[in-house]
Amino acid sequence: MRSSPVPAQRPPLPSDDKRWRIVNGTMRRHGYARDALIETLHTVQQSFGYLDKDSLRFVATSLRVPLSQAYGVATFYHFFTLKPLGKHTCLVCLGTACYIKGAEQLEAQAEERLGIHAGETTPDANVSLLTARCLGSCSVAPVIVFDGDLAGNINAEQMQERLDQWVDHDVR
Ligand code: FES
Repeated sequence: MRSSPVPAQRPPLPSDDKRWRIVNGTMRRHGYARDALIETLHTVQQSFGYLDKDSLRFVATSLRVPLSQAYGVATFYHFFTLKPLGKHTCLVCLGTACYIKGAEQLEAQAEERLGIHAGETTPDANVSLLTARCLGSCSVAPVIVFDGDLAGNINAEQMQERLDQWVDHDVR
């Protein structure tokens, strides 16, 4: 006769917020396996918009991985952020192909237009400026991801136009 597995101790949900149930659902679907870490962090990011200390701790404890590993994953992949993002996001690819095609100038242009540095969000929480290393679309470099939509062969005018739309015409 096979003995049933002993249920592991799981931490309680951090709060009543029902988004934690969605996060927990992802882990449950994967049998709380350690290799569900990235997918679970994706769910947290989608549900909450970013990964904070509490969520990383909750996921790490639930999946029995070291907190340092969860932090490592969260900081390694460009699609995770540890801070709340603005209403809009502008992600500049600074991989080699994009760099050669002028991505650095586009980044500088965005920094000037928004008045922030890469990695920051405007004080009114309207736009976050992010950078990444190769998004896998080098053939259309330079690549920018505006609000999650990848745009290739971006030039300075297109960049300006897009940022102007967000900065000047956004009705909040
Ligand atoms: S370097 Fe930018 S998409 Fe590859």
